[in-house]
Amino acid sequence: PDGSIEIPVAVNVLYRTAAQNISLAQIQSQIDILNKDYNGLNSEYGSVPYYNSVKAAVGIHFVLDTVVRKSTTRTSWATNDAMKRTSTGGLNAITPDSVLNIWIVGAMTGGVIGYAQFPGGTAATDGVVIVHSCFGNTGTAAAPFNLGRTATHEIGHWLNLRHIWGDANCGNDFVGDTPLHNEENYGCPTLPHYSTCTGTPIEMTMNYMDYTDDACMYMFTQGQKTRMLATFLTGGGRNGF
Ligand code: ARG
Ligand code: ZN
Ligand code: CA
Repeated sequence: PDGSIEIPVAVNVLYRTAAQNISLAQIQSQIDILNKDYNGLNSEYGSVPYYNSVKAAVGIHFVLDTVVRKSTTRTSWATNDAMKRTSTGGLNAITPDSVLNIWIVGAMTGGVIGYAQFPGGTAATDGVVIVHSCFGNTGTAAAPFNLGRTATHEIGHWLNLRHIWGDANCGNDFVGDTPLHNEENYGCPTLPHYSTCTGTPIEMTMNYMDYTDDACMYMFTQGQKTRMLATFLTGGGRNGF
């Protein structure tokens, strides 16, 4: 299905302040970033260090389908999916079997900036959640999460990607061409940053599935591409798309 996958996107905006009711321009800026990051069209793609030979243009396109807006008095949301149901103060998902739902919230408890549901979960809560100030690259988007890479990362999870460090010291991310990492990386690491795991590889801190700043993550690998595209096959959990 390489190159032929088109994902309709519904953006569900839950705002308390006027600023949190993000503009259509901010929403569209995020869609544009996804179309770059998932197709090797981001500005950094031509100059990936160390891992140029495994970088991948995934071949998935995103199209803005629906925007729904709702005012709320809630200042903060937990990662318990309350924002995904009208009955708990949120907004119900729109046809989640064939539309990627994104919920935009003012803030999340614990400083979380986004979270995602993996394939195979409950349809009603399927999709990703992102704090307004980490969405797109204009309007309320704020550094260091102002290049739209939080959505790139969360949609990676939504397409079955694990964190590159496998959520453990030298953990497994089930992708063959990503190196072992000791743990997550933050900020903008000085390169090369070596792992002390088996083989002491250079860590792929520039991968979208690390925790580095938006400006310092800019690639998926061929192995990640294969894993993501497998979700669109029968039984992969995303075959409704
Ligand atoms: N902490 C979030 C998660 O685990 C996402 C972090 C995204 N990083 C970024 N530079 N935007 O899903
Ligand atoms: Zn993550
Ligand atoms: Ca790996």
